[in-house]
Amino acid sequence: MAEYVSESVQLTNEIQLHIPEEGISALSNELLDSFENSNMEVTDKKVEQSESCAKVVAAHYNNIEEKGVEDRKDSRIFHMRNLNNWIKSRLIAKVLRRIANEKKQRGFNVLDLGCGKGGDLLKFQKGPVNHVVCADIAEVSVDQCKKRYNEHQHKFSAEFITADCSKVNLKSKFDNPDLKLDLVSCQFAFHYSFESLPQAEQMLANISSNLQPGGYFIGTTTDAFDIIRRLDRETNPGNRKFGNEVFSVEFPESTSLEKVPLFGAKYNFHLEGAVDCPEFLVHFPTFQKLALRYGLKLIEKTRFEDFVKEEPDFEFKNLLVRMKVYEAYPPYPGKELVSKIPSDYVHAQDYLGSLPNSKDLKIGTLTKAEWEAASLYLLFIFQKEDNQRNVDTKLPREADGQQTV
Ligand SMILES: C[S@@+](CC[C@H](N)C(=O)[O-])C[C@H]1O[C@@H](n2cnc3c(N)ncnc32)[C@H](O)[C@@H]1O
Repeated sequence: MAEYVSESVQLTNEIQLHIPEEGISALSNELLDSFENSNMEVTDKKVEQSESCAKVVAAHYNNIEEKGVEDRKDSRIFHMRNLNNWIKSRLIAKVLRRIANEKKQRGFNVLDLGCGKGGDLLKFQKGPVNHVVCADIAEVSVDQCKKRYNEHQHKFSAEFITADCSKVNLKSKFDNPDLKLDLVSCQFAFHYSFESLPQAEQMLANISSNLQPGGYFIGTTTDAFDIIRRLDRETNPGNRKFGNEVFSVEFPESTSLEKVPLFGAKYNFHLEGAVDCPEFLVHFPTFQKLALRYGLKLIEKTRFEDFVKEEPDFEFKNLLVRMKVYEAYPPYPGKELVSKIPSDYVHAQDYLGSLPNSKDLKIGTLTKAEWEAASLYLLFIFQKEDNQRNVDTKLPREADGQQTV
């Protein structure tokens, strides 16, 4: 078993990545079928609803307090946040490397779509990035992102745009409307556009029409199939909610779970101290099909838990430890476990119990509750096709002379 040295004490890198079975039942085929077969019609009603959701989403993110490093350490989801950051770092670095190899040129242009408070700015330093466009619907977040950029030395220039990227033509807001992007990164934000088909299309048009041929579109979003599965409606037919002490997913009565719509499948997402607002299921096969219509071809789609398990690079495995993705179990003397609930560590105990010589050994783990939340997500990589397909990358509403939604 490979071992890492962390702070003078050895931590194994054998981590319990499996999510305990409780609450995650077998596939509900009927439900998944209804999800697959639902039609793509978009009614006016959905568009009306979407206006109110955008405001709720923007207000929610605008009102989140900026937390200092110390406060963040006390968060119940401290390690899960670190895991998310590690995954984003890894994904961004991997694709920047790929672009560098393929293009043999320096000076990439990047769009951080749904940039939030700029938590990913430093991650773009890892490649030869020349310029970053940061765009988000929440004005306060964009201001904080700009402040964060100005407070640190960056190798790249940056511009900041406040806009609902699922409803406006972003190009018209760029400092240089002819700017061509090498990478669009949309982290934990794409699902907001699946409120309606026109919004998803506008988002994809903003991505594709500004990307160079061969450029990449990467991101992270929830796994809709997993969400539907975890509702376990075969066993509990009326169920609309699941979760634990750190997160919950709840579908309002207005979202049909008998025939889940492809767009506008709204659920309320709560993540302790981080998110509390409506989100929308992203039916991945539809996302993939729609993206292809915008010249974006799927290269990779990986669930978070598999991405961590499959990491081949020692440097990045080591980063897992340095970024404090895992909590040491049992804890170091004088340290408290982040969860007071014993069942949150059963998997770690079981694993240690299965080892022949586990006395004095510490393993790195996440609480069961955090794993259950982290494993809701998947990451994706699309590439803009070199040759223009027979598709129109014009903005969807412009194409037929109408205004955007
Ligand atoms: C969970 S946060 C992620 C922020 C950042 N990407 C990160 O990974 O730290 C989701 C972000 O998406 C933004 N967002 C939601 N809907 C949006 C839209 N229609 N257009 C642009 N940004 C949007 C929110 O304001 C919020 O900042």
